[in-house]
Amino acid sequence: MMNTKVWKCNTEQHNEQPLQEAANILVDGGTVAFPTETVYGLGADATNEAAVKHIFAAKGRPSDNPLIVHVATMEQVQQLVMDIPPLAMELMHTFWPGPLTIILPVKKGVLAPTVTAGLDTVGVRIPQHPLALSLLSLSGIPIAAPSANLSGKPSPTKAEHVWHDLNHKVNGIVDGGETGVGLESTVVQVMCDQIHILRPGGITLEQLQNVCHSVIPTYNEKEGVSDTPRSPGMKYTHYAPQGQLTVVQVQGQSNPTAAHHWIEQQVQAANEQGRKTGVLTYDEDRWESQAHIMLSLGSKYELEQAAHTLYSALRMMDESNVEFIWAQDCDMEGIGTAIKNRLHKAADVVMTL
Ligand code: TXA
Ligand code: MG
Repeated sequence: MMNTKVWKCNTEQHNEQPLQEAANILVDGGTVAFPTETVYGLGADATNEAAVKHIFAAKGRPSDNPLIVHVATMEQVQQLVMDIPPLAMELMHTFWPGPLTIILPVKKGVLAPTVTAGLDTVGVRIPQHPLALSLLSLSGIPIAAPSANLSGKPSPTKAEHVWHDLNHKVNGIVDGGETGVGLESTVVQVMCDQIHILRPGGITLEQLQNVCHSVIPTYNEKEGVSDTPRSPGMKYTHYAPQGQLTVVQVQGQSNPTAAHHWIEQQVQAANEQGRKTGVLTYDEDRWESQAHIMLSLGSKYELEQAAHTLYSALRMMDESNVEFIWAQDCDMEGIGTAIKNRLHKAADVVMTL
């Protein structure tokens, strides 16, 4: 057990002193969670094998799942990777700092071997959050950082989520309040002048298409379809609340209220069995439900807000010990693609009406 120090860092204030303290811990081989514009990350010196192993231990993360390396400058990127194809360079100029992770061939021996899980590539990004950027600059080292949750759980969008999962397991938490996007970065790889999306996220397919006409999604909502997932992490259970989650999708012509009726029947049946029930919906779809908890992700026409709220809502279901959750699915457009991906990855059951 270790003491987990928390530094409150309101982005408006001067945070030099606490951030320097956090940076020193990272340089000395410790683990520090910090906010990025997507979700909180759990950082350690990416060149220090022992430090990186602490991340895997704290999260209970499978050792074959590589970590994203975060840096503050392009010079640092050049030091880590073999070469940067022109299209990858264009993506960096367009979307960095920001929620885009780019997979590139890694230079031999510059990173702790566990970071890349034995692959000859590394995922890198320059994040946009001012606290993350300051921490990276002050430490001067590349920081390996997966999302700062216990493996399998929803990613943390607040310092309280990190505290809940990793208190006593990490050296410190930089508390910068709520993160912005609320979902992880988009992971891409450039191949033959095409962009392959390995994980949808904060930068949308449509945004990528503005840079390159050939953008190819290569992820699956449920594994089993493709033999080996290209992104090793995509094969594990992710983002899952404790309760059994059913995602309810409505086929083209069906009336959306069909979903409400079906969910309500399930809720009432579960209630009669004395089970605790929860529903995740949108503002426009709210109905008089018998569920113990109904949470809205906001308007279905403002999916940025839904993305921002999703993980927090799933964690609220856990806090209330909800045993059965029904969530309405969302459209594949813009950030909706990433919301849908996370919901389906988290789901125990997908119901199509
Ligand atoms: O927004 C984010 O990306 C957050 C913040 C903290 O930056 N980080 C994050 O890390 O989501 P993590 O470890 O939870 O997810 C990283 C994903 C995993 O699916 C992993 O398998 C994939 O990126 N990945 C990492 N390195 C890879 C590589 N060399 N090749 C393919 N996939 C890789
Ligand atoms: Mg994660």
